Amino acid sequence: MKALITSGGRGTRLRPITHTKNKHLIPVANKPMLHYAIEAVRDAGVTEIGIIYSADSDEVPRRIGDGSAFGIPITHIAQDAPLGLAHVVKISESFIDGDSFIFYLGDNMIVGGVGRFVEEFERCGSNCHLTLAAVRDPERFGVPEMCDGRIIGIEEKPAAPKSKYAVAGIYLYDQSIFEAANAIAPSARGELEISDAHQWLIDHGKVVTYSEITGWWKDTGKPIDLLEANRLVLDHMPARVDGSIDEDTVVSGNVIIEAGASVRHSVLRGPCIIGAGTVVEDSFVGPFTSIAEDCHVRGSEIDYSIVLRGCQILDVGPRIEGSLLGDEVELVGAEGRPRVNRFMLSDQSRVEVA
Ligand code: G1P
Repeated sequence: MKALITSGGRGTRLRPITHTKNKHLIPVANKPMLHYAIEAVRDAGVTEIGIIYSADSDEVPRRIGDGSAFGIPITHIAQDAPLGLAHVVKISESFIDGDSFIFYLGDNMIVGGVGRFVEEFERCGSNCHLTLAAVRDPERFGVPEMCDGRIIGIEEKPAAPKSKYAVAGIYLYDQSIFEAANAIAPSARGELEISDAHQWLIDHGKVVTYSEITGWWKDTGKPIDLLEANRLVLDHMPARVDGSIDEDTVVSGNVIIEAGASVRHSVLRGPCIIGAGTVVEDSFVGPFTSIAEDCHVRGSEIDYSIVLRGCQILDVGPRIEGSLLGDEVELVGAEGRPRVNRFMLSDQSRVEVA
């Protein structure tokens, strides 16, 4: 079995971070989101991975490489324009080359891996195996219509959903999906929709089965989804201290301190992770916080946040919470009088001040 993983898309709801970084490379618990997808399919027994990237940027192929860092061969496949998920499948036919495959949307995160879905797909011997998750807002997703435990229809982002389920971005296919992707027409938004391909399979008598996702799954479109994914991953990580923590620091809960990180005269309340080369001093780092490498946090308090590489958080008065900071952001306490807030923000930044 092979795997196809998507890494395209504009990530508009994560701007300004996604102006300069592919959404799939934003770290969750200090590891790029895309790594979780690669590791999940590798651990499910896949033998080869194809990653689809937008042809206008080589950031993903450059950062991920040929797969040797992951112990599985990776081929990068360019998509010239964002023409939909069924188009992604269509242009990957020669890479799949007659094998069955798992199609994994690289911005989906799931706890517990995908091995059980591969097993269920193989056990069912179906043409297409979907994964369904009960959600509060099915209208944001592909939604199945169910009858007697079978899927009888699929609609993409319906105004009036026919069930409480979202079709998650983890699909398993045999060759029939290529027939479907080649047969369907673009939707009103000009894309070849994966839901239309699924509907085509149902209409043409193909066997479409499913597994229900009972644990945690997220499509990480918005900042809050990333913070939640970060919370969950940190919650499952064992403590590890490879860096230094001085005697004046109080630690509770699971903390991960990478080699070369240094924590002085601070309070760390886990779960949290402090990246290599980062210095934390006279500060509070609270639960569900990931601080990447080479940051400096001094005289400040932060929790439930993701801080990327090279940030400086120095003498900031109010506690920082629920925040996502890109690479090399500086948040510094203003000096002198009058007491002011002073901003230098890139396009589409968002700030909430106390
Ligand atoms: C895509 C699919 C949708 C699916 C979702 C899962 O939507 O079109 O059917 O439910 O992924 O993450 P998108 O996230 O591209 O809007």
